[in-house]
Amino acid sequence: MCHFEKKAREVLGRCDVLEKLLAFEKDFLGKKGDLTSFLKELKSLSAEDKKKIGPKLQSIRTELTQVLYLKKTAFESEALEKQLQSDWIDVTKAYNLQNGNIHPVALLQRRIETIFTSMGFEVADGPEVETEWNNFDALNIPSTHPARDMQDTFWIGSDASDSKHNVVLRTHTSNIQIRSMLRDGAPVRIIVPGRVYRNEAVDMTHDATFYQVEGLLVDKGISLAHLKGTIETMLQRLFEKKIKIRFRPGYFPFVEPGLEVDIWFEFIDKSGRKRSRWLEFMGAGMVHPNVLKNCDVDPDVYSGFAFGFGLTRLAMLRYGIDDIRLLFSHKKEFLTQF
Ligand code: PHE
Repeated sequence: MCHFEKKAREVLGRCDVLEKLLAFEKDFLGKKGDLTSFLKELKSLSAEDKKKIGPKLQSIRTELTQVLYLKKTAFESEALEKQLQSDWIDVTKAYNLQNGNIHPVALLQRRIETIFTSMGFEVADGPEVETEWNNFDALNIPSTHPARDMQDTFWIGSDASDSKHNVVLRTHTSNIQIRSMLRDGAPVRIIVPGRVYRNEAVDMTHDATFYQVEGLLVDKGISLAHLKGTIETMLQRLFEKKIKIRFRPGYFPFVEPGLEVDIWFEFIDKSGRKRSRWLEFMGAGMVHPNVLKNCDVDPDVYSGFAFGFGLTRLAMLRYGIDDIRLLFSHKKEFLTQF
């Protein structure tokens, strides 16, 4: 039996592949294996010998079975690992995957949001399908007002007798001035990047859908100086250099005084020459007292400024895009440039 034990250990030690291990299992531990026949022979031994040899055989059996099990699982996982390696395929190769990138308008929107939030503005949003009242009346633009002709409007429903029930696609982001003040009152400090719609004939510089950024700051003692400083700061950070601006009188019914803000724009023309000129950039002004009243804000206590500019147009300026239609053309060659 000593001999058997020694031999079993030796053979087991030499099992370096699964097949040998299985053969060992059969020869030594199997139904007709050596150890099994030893155990069978126990019957014919004297009670005294049984006591001596029986437990010894059992413990050899337990030990061999354990080692066998450990080796077997090690071989099996090794084999599985090998198979996984050889079976592995790169499923992504089936597609010609490419990294996406951020649309130039979205890119600029994020930069503008970063700049304004760092100055304590919140980013506000609201519906693009809006009541006539929020889009026009509350902004001091009554239905008879010629200013409505400035913004060709898509009407969704205009049959209701009162403007709170007529519905339009918002023509500007100024509707959020109203929504924001009606909800939160004053003081308020928001920017509103968003999509707006106008019934325009589409050409190189006009689209029926475009993006604007509205700004509104209402608090005690706010003046045009705050507006100027805010715009200059934004432009400086956006263009990474100081940008000269100028104010001209402009007319928007919801501001008084109303302004057009021009920027001194430097660019390289098609022939490679450095050029510069004044460029109309945004509408702005001090929030009209009627607008504050419409939003239950007391114009004797509060004053504020508002501005609005075309985000789409700014993206065109910032990235030198000369045809607005390219921006929403879904042309990959165009979009991957940014
Ligand atoms: N809402 C105006 C437009 O779309 C822009 C504007 C906003 C002007 C705020 C003044 C103040 O043209």
